Amino acid sequence: MKKDSFYVTTPIYYVNDKPHIGHAYTTMLADMLARAHRLLGHDTWFLTGTDEHGQKVQEAANARGIPAQEHVDEVVVRFQELWERLEITHDDFIRTTEPRHTRVVQEILQDLYDRDEIYQAEYDGLYDVRSETFITEKDLPEGCSLDNLPDWVKPIRETNYFFRMSKYQDWLIRYIEENPGFIQPDFRRNETLGFLRKPLGDLCISRPKARLSWGIELPFDAEYVTYVWFDALVNYISGVGYRHNDEQFARRWPCQVHLIGKDILTTHTVYWPTMLKAMGVEQPKCIFAHGWWLSGRDKMSKSTGNVVNPLDYAERFGVDALRYFLMSEMSLGQDATFTEEVFVKRYNSDLANDLGNLTSRVLKMVHTHCDASVPDPSSAVLEEPAAASLWAVVTDAVNGMETHIAAMRPDLGLHAVMTAVREANKYIGVRAPWKQAKEDDKQPLYDTLYVALEVLRVCAALLYPVMPGKMKALRHQIGAGEGDPRVDQLRAFGVLESGTPLLEGEGLFPRALIEKKKEAPAPKVEKKAEPKAANVVEISEITFDDFGKLALRTARVVAAEKVEGADKLLKLQLDVGGEARQIVAGIAQHYTPEAVAGKTIVIVSNLKPAVIRGVQSNGMLLAASKGKRLVLVTTDGEIDSGARVG
Ligand code: ME8
Ligand code: MG
Repeated sequence: MKKDSFYVTTPIYYVNDKPHIGHAYTTMLADMLARAHRLLGHDTWFLTGTDEHGQKVQEAANARGIPAQEHVDEVVVRFQELWERLEITHDDFIRTTEPRHTRVVQEILQDLYDRDEIYQAEYDGLYDVRSETFITEKDLPEGCSLDNLPDWVKPIRETNYFFRMSKYQDWLIRYIEENPGFIQPDFRRNETLGFLRKPLGDLCISRPKARLSWGIELPFDAEYVTYVWFDALVNYISGVGYRHNDEQFARRWPCQVHLIGKDILTTHTVYWPTMLKAMGVEQPKCIFAHGWWLSGRDKMSKSTGNVVNPLDYAERFGVDALRYFLMSEMSLGQDATFTEEVFVKRYNSDLANDLGNLTSRVLKMVHTHCDASVPDPSSAVLEEPAAASLWAVVTDAVNGMETHIAAMRPDLGLHAVMTAVREANKYIGVRAPWKQAKEDDKQPLYDTLYVALEVLRVCAALLYPVMPGKMKALRHQIGAGEGDPRVDQLRAFGVLESGTPLLEGEGLFPRALIEKKKEAPAPKVEKKAEPKAANVVEISEITFDDFGKLALRTARVVAAEKVEGADKLLKLQLDVGGEARQIVAGIAQHYTPEAVAGKTIVIVSNLKPAVIRGVQSNGMLLAASKGKRLVLVTTDGEIDSGARVG
């Protein structure tokens, strides 16, 4: 990478519907990184945009009964307006229907075709209509076969164009192994390497216009359009001048990080690197896949309709509070749950209580006792033990933010800042400035308030990329001036100038209440004492309807691992009829992770999600136990995952 150059991208989102919190999340994450790098003085570029071709978009337009171009022109505005509302500072917004993009895609296709990287062949096989991909028999879900296809898989026979992806398989495996930072986090890297253990086929990159016309026409065959992914991925280079602005391209590429959700790992870590390799273009430095925002137990997605609208939260709590919540609540890589309860809890504890209180207490006293201007501290103010230890924690926060951001753990960076804020509240408690104010000698009071203002200055700077609006206001209120914070002053004490008048401001984070009515509490189930000797447990009769409330389903264990620090728990990744799920189960003393992987088990799939030892659990498995022995309930013979049990 060119020194100090930082180029970050988000996926370009499908314009089949309006944006939701998942899209807002990736975009805010990129925005936070871009803002942080700009503060550091890096030559920063932040690209986002929209994916406007392909079947999904065409279908959305058809459903509305309007031409595809009209549909995308309308929906794209929703994304652009939302980014403005959420204070996203992208440097460019690329739409795949723009000529600057379509031209580059066509040039790439022609070049690859001329060099025999693309060839024509008859395809006789299977097509997955959900993911718009050609699949082979081995990709079919358990229990299915060529004679027994699931309804989303269609046999298909047509002539198409193929990219010789398979010939890059060995190269790609080696590249991923030799560049550990290329795919992050590590467990995603392993997922891709696992995928690459099976033979990699060539990639079908065309769609006959007869079947789908909404796409970029192949330059060498007007009967076809380009497969949407072969078009979309190119945005990352067409957006920074590839083949039309060499100077810009040399300045920006290779990209520092492609941020994506885990749903699009394969396209980004297999298709994209092999495409670049065939083009002779350098690889991006890092592809980082974050987890999902769940709504209750399910992935939030347009198709299930269980989405959180980011605008609702921005309206109620402010854009900055929403940004703060999303950045602090998700530990990057893992899934996280978005509910009003969790949101309000974090908002009140971190922002209203810790940071909001510190700010309002300190400012109130400076206004009352220091003539509304920055007080003059004594020269040895940091030698006082309470101040010295507080400042050490503040410096830890500065270091922490730096290392955690570099390691893509903004949640931990924010945690370090909040630790400093809480420490400052303790410091105020110990120094009791309201008592100091009653003394004749006002110097100790001035010292206390000056130290607190300096802590606020550093914290406001550290939180600036996450909460730009509120932190700008805070900087204003503490006399830190109008401009951006200076990162070279984060470890320095004594930056605020005594005598600077403080401006009145509103409280930053008023306390929030939960608005929506809570769901009626679930009827309590009486807990029976475990029978000591008897084999039969007395349970009162239930009706057929009672039983019907349980959604028992078969699930295939895709992967299992131990839960750190809990010797009884295993974390299982399940496939439940095509849906990915994570559950935590107390079976670690009976099964090793290797022993459960691959099994088809039975789960209660509509159990209210829970967080067990900090790990999200969406469901419960069934096991039979007696005494010390425990065995999993499985099925007698093969059956698809997601099958009903009952
Ligand atoms: O896949 N939690 O677009 P898309 C977290 N056009 N992030 C989420 C999310 C959730 N519940 N739902 C969506 C496409 N996202 C292609 C991309 S790129 C060359 C082409 C975010 O509209 C996350 O970043 O389906 C995910 O990868 C992306 O939106 C998918 O957006
Ligand atoms: Mg999607």
